[in-house]
Amino acid sequence: MKNIFISGGAGYIGTHCVISLIKSGYSPIILDNFSSSHKSVIKKLQIISGKRVKFYNVDLRDKKKLRSIFKKHSCEIVIHCAGFKSVEKSIEKPISYFDNNIGSTLSLLECMKDQKIFKIIFSSSATVYNDSQPLPLKENSKIGKTQNPYGNTKYIIERILMDLAKNDSRWSISIARYFNPISSHESGLLKENSNGVPNNLIPYIIKVAQKKLPYLKVFGKNYKTKDGTCIRDYIHVTDLADGHLALLKNNKLKKGLNIYNFGTGKGSSVLEVIKAFEKQNKISIPYKYTKRRPGDVAVSYCDPKKAFKELNWKANFNLQNSLIDILK
Ligand SMILES: NC(=O)c1ccc[n+]([C@@H]2O[C@H](COP(=O)([O-])OP(=O)(O)OC[C@H]3O[C@@H](n4cnc5c(N)ncnc54)[C@H](O)[C@@H]3O)[C@@H](O)[C@H]2O)c1
Repeated sequence: MKNIFISGGAGYIGTHCVISLIKSGYSPIILDNFSSSHKSVIKKLQIISGKRVKFYNVDLRDKKKLRSIFKKHSCEIVIHCAGFKSVEKSIEKPISYFDNNIGSTLSLLECMKDQKIFKIIFSSSATVYNDSQPLPLKENSKIGKTQNPYGNTKYIIERILMDLAKNDSRWSISIARYFNPISSHESGLLKENSNGVPNNLIPYIIKVAQKKLPYLKVFGKNYKTKDGTCIRDYIHVTDLADGHLALLKNNKLKKGLNIYNFGTGKGSSVLEVIKAFEKQNKISIPYKYTKRRPGDVAVSYCDPKKAFKELNWKANFNLQNSLIDILK
């Protein structure tokens, strides 16, 4: 069984990757400080997979501890999902975001290099794309001019990885640009963790459906889109997790730098998502329009053809069937 380190493996996307990895015969080792997740998730992973799941409670910035963990296991690859991800909190606490996201990536890369681990898959985001780019967004569309500290951390990390690949030929670096992950494992045990008012649309709708929040705020109604609300490319998190597997399988982690969009290629507006959710769950979602959120682009969806052509990966779920069992 092949060991794979997965930073942030206790988080929303990380846990789904862990399940996909185990299903495909890999042995994931979670590195997480549980700053935005809960230890109880490890037990849930064990229930779903029927396997013991190895984990270390470690802050990636703690190089001493990270080095000692790396020494204990033979492993060639790291999937790097760890990081803070809230746009709003990044505006409140930019230094903490730079320190955590960039600091932990630098620390991780240094410890990997010392241990001669040169293969990494990095969780990037559609937010790195420059918002004046023609649609659909392709891997070679322009990046930069990111709108908030969170997006800047992703952009800066991408630049660091690009320089690293260019200047040190030992590295195989894959950048996975996630579009908008939604939904969760069919068991209903794994969830996107969000205390208070969620930033992401689906967790927000779920809280309204569960009557934990009175209504959904729709940020802006006069964007230049078919119904005035923002359009995003929603991808089922299991499809996303399988994208990482496609990179691992058949040695697709090529030398140098490779970038892939992980999305469906289809955009849906906020109102379309609300309607699809209402239809699927036979429940009404009250909503109110409020002002635009700073930094939100009107439309974002990708061209996922490169991942299909090179990795033989594509999303299987569409929006409607991503919403099945969502209230489980
Ligand atoms: N969920 C999304 O909508 C989305 C979209 C695009 C990109 N991403 C990126 O994907 C990655 C995973 O996202 P997620 O939704 O699973 O987030 P998440 O918050 O659920 O998981 C992140 C995990 O990283 C851990 N972590 C944070 N800082 C750490 C540190 N210094 N050391 C060790 N562990 C640390 C947290 O405890 C958490 O378990 C993030 O990098 C995020 O920016 C997420």
